[in-house]
Amino acid sequence: MFDDLDKYQEEIRAFKETSPEKIENFRIKYLGKKGILNDLFAKFKLVPVNEKKQFGRSLNILKDLVLKKLEALKSKNIQVKQAKISEDLSRTAYPIHSGSRHPISIVTSKIIDIFSQIGFNISEGPEIEDDWHNFTALNLEENHPARDMQDTFFIQSNPDILLRTHTSSVQVRYMEKNTPPIRTISPGRVYRNEAISSRSHCIFHQVEGLYIDNQVSFSSLKQIILYFTKALFGKSKIRFRPSYFPFTEPSAEVDIFWGLESEADYRITKGTGWLEIMGCGMVDPNVLSNCKIDSEKFSGYAFGIGIERIAMLLYQIDDIRLFFENDIRFLEQFKGKF
Ligand code: DAH
Repeated sequence: MFDDLDKYQEEIRAFKETSPEKIENFRIKYLGKKGILNDLFAKFKLVPVNEKKQFGRSLNILKDLVLKKLEALKSKNIQVKQAKISEDLSRTAYPIHSGSRHPISIVTSKIIDIFSQIGFNISEGPEIEDDWHNFTALNLEENHPARDMQDTFFIQSNPDILLRTHTSSVQVRYMEKNTPPIRTISPGRVYRNEAISSRSHCIFHQVEGLYIDNQVSFSSLKQIILYFTKALFGKSKIRFRPSYFPFTEPSAEVDIFWGLESEADYRITKGTGWLEIMGCGMVDPNVLSNCKIDSEKFSGYAFGIGIERIAMLLYQIDDIRLFFENDIRFLEQFKGKF
């Protein structure tokens, strides 16, 4: 039996094959379930007592030899493969495909940056909202006609639950949980039951802004919007048009003077040079009271910006649907933009 062991040792030492199949066969031959080593271990009990120790030691040496051999052969195999890959050193490098950020994410983070530099924090709320936060607390009682301005997706089994139609709902949630001074912006996705076209979509994004403190006035609002338009568009000619929102009084819509330099400018501004970019106003005292904020003591302003609209202006995109199709040819154009 000891002779067999010597024979196996020699065979293992002499084994030189490097093909993966031959190495695997070698492994099975020695280490497999019905392999040589298992067979020898099974014979252990037949060995006379005085030889057991010696036999056991030899078996372990043999096993060790097989394992080391396998390891050596495998690493040689890897080296052989690597050598093959780097054979042609003159070959041009493989192109590296880097990803790009979605234009909506790019614009959202630009807006967040601009407002966080002047002390606004970021807040978020749920996309599945209740009637109170989306409407009632914002001064839109049950049969308020302005509810029709925002075609709403309701959850069928419960008319109290809906997909939020604007990020103004986050204002309410934030005021319910925090006391003034409040300075927050709330970016997020919103939903409206609208026909999809190049100008409107049933899903889009907004950033809501809210500032509540002692003695906040309309002129503070004007200043902040001016700061924002300068920072984002590099344009400082803006105008406030009187408007109506149930949650603000007075309310306004803000236009910036885009200019009329190119044909595209004429098209997007309908020949006027002016473009609407957001809604805003002084938070209605009713809204403050609904959120348990003393409207005698505090006042504030709010604004809502449509992110798709801003992205379409900044990157001259003429179809809102492009944002949601995830066509790689569209998205790749934003490579390297942050
Ligand atoms: N929530 C409005 C909308 O979706 C936008 C808006 C207008 C938000 C005026 C405001 C605001 O906070 O003050 O159309």
